Amino acid sequence: MSSESSLRSLLSQSLLPSNEAKILLAHVLEKHYQLPRSALLSQDDMTLNPSALEEWASLETRRIDGEPIAYLLGKKGFHGIELHVAPGVLIPRPETELLVDIALTEIQQKIDQDQVRVLDLGTGSGAIALAVANLAHQALVKATDLSSDALVIANLNAAALNLENRVQFSQGSWYEALYGSDIKEFDVILSNPPYIAAQDPHLSQGDLRFEPNSALTDQSTGLTCLEIIISKANQYLKPGGLIAVEHGFDQSSAVVQLMKIAGLQNIEVHLDLAGHSRVTSGRKSNPQ
Ligand SMILES: C[S@@+](CC[C@H](N)C(=O)[O-])C[C@H]1O[C@@H](n2cnc3c(N)ncnc32)[C@H](O)[C@@H]1O
Repeated sequence: MSSESSLRSLLSQSLLPSNEAKILLAHVLEKHYQLPRSALLSQDDMTLNPSALEEWASLETRRIDGEPIAYLLGKKGFHGIELHVAPGVLIPRPETELLVDIALTEIQQKIDQDQVRVLDLGTGSGAIALAVANLAHQALVKATDLSSDALVIANLNAAALNLENRVQFSQGSWYEALYGSDIKEFDVILSNPPYIAAQDPHLSQGDLRFEPNSALTDQSTGLTCLEIIISKANQYLKPGGLIAVEHGFDQSSAVVQLMKIAGLQNIEVHLDLAGHSRVTSGRKSNPQ
């Protein structure tokens, strides 16, 4: 085998940014040789066998064509767990970890409850539901999605993380997924719904081109799913219960307004690490 296919030369000849080439080549090494990423340096004169070389060439081409790295690897880390992802689901974003943190803080305050009921509307890969259940052991999570493709992946993730006992999935449009369920009141409702406006040019750029359109946009102003979720929250929250929704950085005043119209109280806008308003929360009033 020629040294042209050594790890060193594959990396130096790649048209990809160096960090991306390393991630993809490390994936090939792990899959074909069970070698750790450090082999990229420690064994940089190693040559790949034909099937590993073919996989590297295919991954490199697909990435050059724009496919998201997470789909190429088939996985994405989120809030301390690893999730299987594929083109049927949104790739979980780091900013969504804020929603998980807000839920965990809320659940921690309910130390007097053996069980805390959580609802995750539009669960996708199961990211929010599974991250919450993973760290909050008294959380019983109901997670819903309209997409059957998403629910297949979410179920696989729940099984891989051994969380099937505390995270249950249902299919349906927003709260309609709860029809037929005996649990209809929650301590915490969470959602990261499609909130990109149909005309937003970002939908035809970067990773978003490869993700399901139905996970990204409401095909309208960006606020229609948020409006449905917020307007009905009082029907599904326990008294004093919390709803927290993710939204675009420029949608917080509209979301605050939707929460006021819905009669929610203690409305708060939460900032992500970059200082953008990304999550708004509110509570059902508690007459006690
Ligand atoms: C922005 S993605 C969020 C996925 C996941 N929660 C996350 O944060 O990575 C929105 C999700 O809402 C789902 N969705 C879209 N319309 C829906 C509807 N009418 N009812 C329930 N889920 C819906 C999509 O299939 C998608 O999985």
